[in-house]
Amino acid sequence: MKPNRRHVLLLWMLLSSGVSEAIEPISTTIAVGMAATLTAFLASYQNIFYYFHECCRPEWISFNKTGLETDLENKLFGQHIASRIILKAVSGFMGNENPKKPLVLSLHGWTGTGKNFVSKLIAENIYKEGMDSSFVHVFTSTLHFPHPSQYLTYKSQLQQWIKGNVSNCERSMFIFDEMDKMHPGLIDSIKPYLDYYDKLDGVSYRKSIFIFLSNAGGDRIIQTALDFWNAGRNRNEIELKDLETLISLSVFNDNQSGFFHTSLIDKNLVDFFVPFLPLEYQHVVQCALSEMKVRGHEPDFEVAHKVAKDLVYFPKSERAFSVKGCKTIESKLDYYT
Ligand SMILES: *[C@@H]1O[C@H](CO)[C@@H](O)[C@H](O)[C@H]1NC(C)=O
Ligand SMILES: *[C@@H]1O[C@H](CO)[C@@H](O)[C@H](O)[C@H]1NC(C)=O
Ligand SMILES: *[C@@H]1O[C@H](CO)[C@@H](O)[C@H](O)[C@H]1NC(C)=O
Repeated sequence: MKPNRRHVLLLWMLLSSGVSEAIEPISTTIAVGMAATLTAFLASYQNIFYYFHECCRPEWISFNKTGLETDLENKLFGQHIASRIILKAVSGFMGNENPKKPLVLSLHGWTGTGKNFVSKLIAENIYKEGMDSSFVHVFTSTLHFPHPSQYLTYKSQLQQWIKGNVSNCERSMFIFDEMDKMHPGLIDSIKPYLDYYDKLDGVSYRKSIFIFLSNAGGDRIIQTALDFWNAGRNRNEIELKDLETLISLSVFNDNQSGFFHTSLIDKNLVDFFVPFLPLEYQHVVQCALSEMKVRGHEPDFEVAHKVAKDLVYFPKSERAFSVKGCKTIESKLDYYT
């Protein structure tokens, strides 16, 4: 970070101007000793500064694999495929000192299935400050880029932001929410940053992480989960290969989604497509119990079932999956407790 160097310099000037007069009559040995003390003092001042101000340094950015593994196991429900891919992808990437390209994850699934939540878990296990870190950036299409007609303005803005942020810290993380609502031209404009370039304009993006969240392909995922349900098969038997091609095909061919004909998929810039399955009654109960724990309450099974029963499930005949996943659990709990 630049500001702290300025601080140190200021402090140095301040101290040395006063000190130089004072040491005039003193022997060189003492002066040298004082200089050493001063240097040590400055070094520790710098360390203290790093300690209190978030910096692009290992004190603030370091990956906790055990932490991510535990979180995915204990806090994310009903997503055996997503859990496995995320852990493997993030661990592999963060463990590689010299990645050839940034990590690009595309998370797909219906609302409330945990896409945002997983992004948060990743951030929390890399950045000490989690989602509040100044190196984690969230862009929501409808919020940041609401008017399709202004996409050229958004485009240069977004490119400047990404470049500026990665120049500040190569371990930056960018989360794009509602990716399917993003203008295809805007998606194309971030393409260069995701590719196998050593450097672009002197900036290397290879250590950054890009996460795209979207509902695109959600229908196909639901259909697959429903087929398993109707066949009486355990959803844990659903494998990535049952979904992966489906997702990239439907994302590619869906002309409503922002991915349409963008070369993100064409050029294999996305490293992992991560499907999020629709959540069943049992998962909603788990979400409710987990939220009670977060709030420091004793888990109350009766209330958890009450909350879960109150949600709407689809399709109407099977009532297999929660329409909003775990999304409304928090507010519902306020209501029941
Ligand atoms: C990593 O996460 C585990 C599990 O949450 C935690 O016990 C441990 O203290 C963390 N390690 C560091 C270095 O933060
Ligand atoms: C970093 O990104 C944020 C948006 O998340 C933007 O407001 C800021 O200006 C960017 N910083 C630089 C140095 O470009
Ligand atoms: C999108 O595709 C559907 C079916 O393939 C077609 O009916 C529709 O007109 C297309 N919409 C646009 C905007 O191209």
